[in-house]
Amino acid sequence: MTVTTIEEIHKYPDQTVTLRGWLYNKRESGKLVFLILRDGTGFIQCVAFKKDLPEEVWDAAKSVTQESSLMITGSVRKEERAPYCGYEMGVQNIEIVSKVEGEYPISLKEHGADFLLEHRHLWLRTPSQMAVMRIRAEVMAASRDFFNERGFVNVDAPIITANACEGTTNLFQIDYFEDQAYLSQTGQLYMEAAALALGKVYCLGPAFRAEKSKTRKHLTEFWMIEPEVAFLTFEENLAMQEEYVSYVIQRVLKTRAAELNLLERDTSKLADITAPFPKISYDDAVKLLQEKGSEIQWGDDLGAPDETLLGEHFQKPVFVHRFPSAIKAFYMKPDPDRPEVALGADLIAPDGYGELIGGGQRIDDYDLLVQRIQEHDLPMEAFGWYLDLRKYGSVPHGGFGLGIERFVAWISGVEHVRETSPFPRTIYRIQP
Ligand code: 4AD
Ligand code: MG
Repeated sequence: MTVTTIEEIHKYPDQTVTLRGWLYNKRESGKLVFLILRDGTGFIQCVAFKKDLPEEVWDAAKSVTQESSLMITGSVRKEERAPYCGYEMGVQNIEIVSKVEGEYPISLKEHGADFLLEHRHLWLRTPSQMAVMRIRAEVMAASRDFFNERGFVNVDAPIITANACEGTTNLFQIDYFEDQAYLSQTGQLYMEAAALALGKVYCLGPAFRAEKSKTRKHLTEFWMIEPEVAFLTFEENLAMQEEYVSYVIQRVLKTRAAELNLLERDTSKLADITAPFPKISYDDAVKLLQEKGSEIQWGDDLGAPDETLLGEHFQKPVFVHRFPSAIKAFYMKPDPDRPEVALGADLIAPDGYGELIGGGQRIDDYDLLVQRIQEHDLPMEAFGWYLDLRKYGSVPHGGFGLGIERFVAWISGVEHVRETSPFPRTIYRIQP
């Protein structure tokens, strides 16, 4: 007997095949039972007709419960009007692998967010969640492809580190034998070392921040892609970012149209996301926001409402560049023409998804970097190796970091980043 998947079923019209999966849903009407099978590659309606079936097979069709695992053998019919996949299966045999006794926790009605998060291990089986996971996988693959195709080398950054780099208030500290260490907030410093070895590099891995804020944009564990390039200029850095973001979006639109459709994402907005993106200085952004009623003052970071206002104004991702150095990380290179601002930019996504990218030029001067490490009260010993990079063949360089979950949330149109992580970690949740 041919065993196949729902995705491949089109290859077997009018043939008898076996599908393996789980019962998503069931409808009964007299002498007919409609079994909706899912197998991870899709959904298909399997029709059991009492008069065609031995008694035990008919009994299995009647008694099988939601999310029981089963194998169904039957004849494949092309049926334009069939729900789900345009094919239907006429049931000949059913083998129940494991029957769910009692009620399956996630019924097909609406559930609250907390309940669903508690049952994340089962929630993942829901069509919308499977769609988001497929989009996430495509974003990951497209991200790697973009940089691989452009001659970048994928270098992996360590997860256990002695370096705090994105502020000291959100560090996860761990015991490391006799010492203390942290879970990495960013792979950037290691990518800088790797860029001076290999020229163009990137890492794609988890980052950890003990975020105490409960917002739709913050997780305590998230994934970040971080390219870093030697001899890169600020303008080239922004161009790389807008090309990368556009590439991933256009690719997902092409390859994950069915999933975006299932999620009811308005894709016409995404289709317009092509490079170049608008760019506004922090100075002008503050003025614009004040005109729009924000209370922001020069020197303040953008608040979530400010990011939303910018998104509404530009209707595209927008670069805000040259923030005051005082509110940015210690490694940011000052603008040579105006040292009080940093030669960096944040890319703000539309529709309230907030800061998608943080990036910019890095300090390449040894003495200035020493000064900044001191000003930020960071332990000089831990940064000895990082300072070496400014002693041995320092060059102008830069890069960026994009948060995968925010990117996936925006592309998918889901409200909260926690739905874009297979097993999200937030301040109140480490289970499942
Ligand atoms: O702006 P951030 O802090 O930049 C860095 O970490 C740099 N070292 C990156 C670099 O230049 N190599 O973080 C970068 C991005 C943010 O723009 C956001 O998309 C995401 O990481 N991010 C988070 N995503 C989810 N939950 C959180 N708590 C996040 N914190 C940052
Ligand atoms: Mg940032």
